[in-house]
Parts: sequence; C-alpha cells; structure tokens
Amino acid sequence: MRMRRKPWTEPVLANCAYFVERPSEHRNRWGECFQAPQPMHLEIGCGKGVATSRMAHENPGVNYIAIDEVRHVLAVAVRNTDAAYGDTPPGNIVYSAVDAMRIYDTFGPEDRIERIYIRFPNPWDERAKHHKRRLTHPRQLMQYRDFMTPGGEIWFKTDDAALFTASRRYLGECGFEIVYQTDDLHASGFTPNYESEHELLFTGQGKAIRFLIARMLPDAPERNTEAEKEYLP
Ligand SMILES: C[S@@+](CC[C@H](N)C(=O)[O-])C[C@H]1O[C@@H](n2cnc3c(N)ncnc32)[C@H](O)[C@@H]1O
Repeated sequence: MRMRRKPWTEPVLANCAYFVERPSEHRNRWGECFQAPQPMHLEIGCGKGVATSRMAHENPGVNYIAIDEVRHVLAVAVRNTDAAYGDTPPGNIVYSAVDAMRIYDTFGPEDRIERIYIRFPNPWDERAKHHKRRLTHPRQLMQYRDFMTPGGEIWFKTDDAALFTASRRYLGECGFEIVYQTDDLHASGFTPNYESEHELLFTGQGKAIRFLIARMLPDAPERNTEAEKEYLP
C-alpha cells in the first residue's frame, strides 16, 4: 500500500495508550497488554484498521493485536479505532508496527494466539522469486505455528484467485486443514464478516471475495530445511 506520509503520524502514535512502541519486549507476554485475560486474536497487515476497529468494538470478549509494517497506516487505524469506540477507551485492542517477515521476534509460544486474520495481503504475484514475501507463504505459516494454540485458526480473505489457490496449497503443506472456503464470500451468507478497506474497494469494482478458514493440526509436518532456505529473504 502506498500512502503519502502524514505529519500527524508520530504525534498520533505517541499519544495512543494502545499503541505498543517496542513489540519485541512483549514477546511471550502480550496478554499483559490487556485489561482482562481473554482469548487473543492477531491481525497481520491490518492497514487502516477499518475491519479491525469494528470487529474489536463488537467483540469485547476477545483481545486483539493488530500489526502492520507501515507506521502512517497504523496512525490512520488508531484514528478509526478511536472513532469506533467513541468515549470508551479501547481496552481489548493494541496496535504495533511489526514486519511480519520476522514475526518470530515478536510472538512466542506463550502468547497462544487462537486466531489470525489476514485480509487482502499483497499477492506478490509478478515474479515467482517474490512469493516468499506472501503473508501466507510456508516461510510465514511455519512461524505462525510456533505461537498459535493447537486447533488455532487462520481466517484469510483475498480477491486474488492465484494467491487463494497457492495459499490453500501452502496451508496443506504446513499442517493446516481447511475447514471452510468460498469463492464468493458475499454470496455465501457467511457471518460475521467485517469488511476491510480493500474489501470495500474490490467489492465496489465487482470482484468476488475469496475466503477460507484453516485450522492448525497438532502435528507439524517434517521441516524441509533445504527448501526453507529458499524462503529466506
Ligand atoms: C493491501 S493492504 C490490506 C490492508 C487491510 N488488511 C485491508 O484489507 O484493507 C496490505 C497491508 O499489509 C501490510 N503489509 C505488507 N507486508 C507486510 C509485512 N511484511 N508485515 C506487516 N505488514 C505488511 C501493508 O503495509 C498494508 O497495510
């Protein structure tokens, strides 16, 4: 996502009580960031937090961690969350700037993430050598396994048919079972569906939204360390 840098980015983040400035210091201790011990869900690449804000506000019984690598996008997300909560301080959501390529630095097994949301990630489909940057690539999924609970889920949405097909394969290779999938989320009647900024954009362009839920199976597949070297940046 390209977005003009906003001069108010740093003041917004500095004044935000629920923006975590040094995420790696919270590794294995993310639960302490919240008022109540509750199931934790993680959104990776939250963008402007349009879906995130509504989802967190409507589900006070879940603690949400939303990350993106771009600080000025996160500042917009904070503004959207403030607007969604109104006069109530958001107690069940935190944001942080994290590059998901190195997410193992930020989350550990004690964080016990029950669900991951990945909404409309960049497809990186121009060149095969860029596939390793996909947020659903095996290099990423094997990192997510380390901090998810057994039976934890990945909820993934995209408009990109090729990325959807490849992601289903990646998930199978990494010990995830697909328990729900649709090539047309809006026609499927699936609820709840929190529409993100990109979902609204693509739907407005008449594109179908693909969606799946994948559940982590208890046994990790054999790791092919030679193959994984290819995934390293
Ligand atoms: C196409 S936007 C989608 C934003 C939002 N999820 C939505 O559906 O509207 C992709 C987002 O992923 C973020 N992103 C891309 N690569 C990332 C990475 N390695 N780590 C963290 N965030 C990343 C981008 O900064 C951008 O905000």
